[in-house]
Amino acid sequence: MDKYLVFGNPIAQSKSPAIHQMFAEQTKQSMHYDKFLSNVDDFVKDIESFQLAGGKGANITAPFKEQAMEMCDQLSSRAQAAGAVNTLTFSKQGITGDNTDGVGLVNDLLAQQVVLAGTKVLLMGAGGASRGVILPLLAQNPEQLIIVNRTTEKAIQLAKRFDDPRLTVINFAETEKHSFDVIINATSASLSANLPALSANAITAHTVCYDMVYGKQLSPFLIWCQQQGAKQVIDGLGMLVGQAAESFYLWRKVNPDPLPIMQAIRNQLSA
Ligand code: ATR
Repeated sequence: MDKYLVFGNPIAQSKSPAIHQMFAEQTKQSMHYDKFLSNVDDFVKDIESFQLAGGKGANITAPFKEQAMEMCDQLSSRAQAAGAVNTLTFSKQGITGDNTDGVGLVNDLLAQQVVLAGTKVLLMGAGGASRGVILPLLAQNPEQLIIVNRTTEKAIQLAKRFDDPRLTVINFAETEKHSFDVIINATSASLSANLPALSANAITAHTVCYDMVYGKQLSPFLIWCQQQGAKQVIDGLGMLVGQAAESFYLWRKVNPDPLPIMQAIRNQLSA
């Protein structure tokens, strides 16, 4: 049976095995997907051992996404732009690296009827999570994609990598003078229950707010957005399932339907 692993540290909490097992059942694919706890010193060896043992592919999560990229023989353009890989495919040609996080986000937004073409999008954060979604967001033809980050210089450096006139940078104080159609929280602030210093003026009754994190409850950021009167708030569960769906497609060449799987994970969360 074809074998896949997700590598991370920590990894116990990963929902990827459950998601991929459900995709496999849904699409009648014969495969096994498990999780693997690695560490920085052993990561390369762990991947090589899995490959030698006949593994077909792997997902990579924190903190190994950059290290995994360095191991690849071929990289997709979206992995290059993201500077990180979350999907490895093993073949006779070696290791191919891709990054499906951005397409997972975009597909979730589109599935939830969020319009990106011609709109003004604010992306909060300038770390790996933000970098990974910029190219797929630009591919949806927003009128503007504006990055805001606590450390503005980091956002400026990030924007320079893409060299796209639609991509600009502001600081949090300046969010007072703007409103946005879509606001995406790619900071790690929600993980520590902190709120980014976004102005309430940024949100109108037309604004859709997205947080890349998900959980049993809405994040403090999404609760705050609701309080400011946002049109719609969406957590990152759909992005999680969406990136998994794209990885699954890369390996199996079959598109699973993410919606019932999202619902199943949502039910598990609230159980
Ligand atoms: P990731 O790979 O998840 O993007 P990261 O590379 O450590 O993680 O980046 C974390 C991002 O969250 C950064 O943009 C960080 O802002 P700084 O560059 O100024 O550090 C942002 N961040 C973390 N905590 C934050 C907070 N409380 N408010 C606003 N931004 C925050």
